[in-house]
Amino acid sequence: MEPKLVLLVFTLISATATCEYIRPPPRKTLHFPWDSKSSSHPQQVHISLAGDKNMRVSWVSNEKSSQSMVEYGTSPGRYSNRSQGESTSYSYLFYSSGKIHHTVIGPLEDNTVYYYRCGGEGPEYKLKTPPAEFPVMFAVAGDLGQTGWTKTTLDHIDRCKYDVHLLPGDLSYADYVQHRWDTFAELVEPLASTRPWMVTQGNHEKESILFFKDGFQSYNSRWKMPFEESGSSSNLYYSFEVAGAHIIMLGSYTDYDEHSDQYNWLKADVAKVDRKKTPWLLVLFHVPWYNSNEAHQGEGDRMMAAMETLLHAASVDIVLAGHVHAYERTERVNNGKLDPCGAVHITIGDGGKQRRFS
Ligand SMILES: [Fe+2]
Repeated sequence: MEPKLVLLVFTLISATATCEYIRPPPRKTLHFPWDSKSSSHPQQVHISLAGDKNMRVSWVSNEKSSQSMVEYGTSPGRYSNRSQGESTSYSYLFYSSGKIHHTVIGPLEDNTVYYYRCGGEGPEYKLKTPPAEFPVMFAVAGDLGQTGWTKTTLDHIDRCKYDVHLLPGDLSYADYVQHRWDTFAELVEPLASTRPWMVTQGNHEKESILFFKDGFQSYNSRWKMPFEESGSSSNLYYSFEVAGAHIIMLGSYTDYDEHSDQYNWLKADVAKVDRKKTPWLLVLFHVPWYNSNEAHQGEGDRMMAAMETLLHAASVDIVLAGHVHAYERTERVNNGKLDPCGAVHITIGDGGKQRRFS
């Protein structure tokens, strides 16, 4: 029997039916009445796995003098440990971000609740570390956005006793409007401050301005993932391990040909996987390779041509993608055909953004 790994894939469809599916109508973009700039407390708190037994705590503050310090412990209000981290900020046209903090805490015990506070002030947060062994439960939803449906998806996820959230791209749909990065992080904070959120980039994270702005400045500044911990030179691709799963997050919007840094890093990463220690091998990226939807046809073909042989040789079990705002699951496939040694591909890009695709 396969060791127990549970994937909760979240889409707007809660049940399957044999009759024709009628897509529910879009819901409005959420209204955010608060003015985040007026608060002196830490905001937009989210956590991510940062190497063996460590967690990265990320947040934004408006005070330039605030410290990148996290106090934490296993009892409420009693912080027996503290860690110092780093901070960054960026400007984008007329927008200036707050001070963005990233602080790694640990080593932490497995499957344990910790209480923590950011920057020495403000409210106390609570997180739970993942288990060291099976069973482990992942929540997976891509293309979240900030609509009424996003809230529904987050409420569904919140009711599940999951260990780690996996997000295959398209987070805030800021689309160059920088304060939407702030409101998105506020929206997901109740979940993302409690369980690690592991994300990779989608097309809506790319905010290039020709000859002027790097495409992923906002995303990379705010959603730092454990790329250094996994030997990668880019926040756009990395890997991590949870319980018995090795999980690879790839970038659909960076170079992936066989001479690229991403390809060479992937080759080295799969070579290091110990299937006795991590019998499950999962890969996430944004643009699906197998897609029967009329939306985004063929967009994943070049990446698939470059990388599928490598994933097949590594015996990847499951590939998760987003981009198409629908749910779809294949049989085990490789090179466009059924293959008992191929991966199951799951598209789970209906997390809340109301348009049919993108
Ligand atoms: Fe997308």
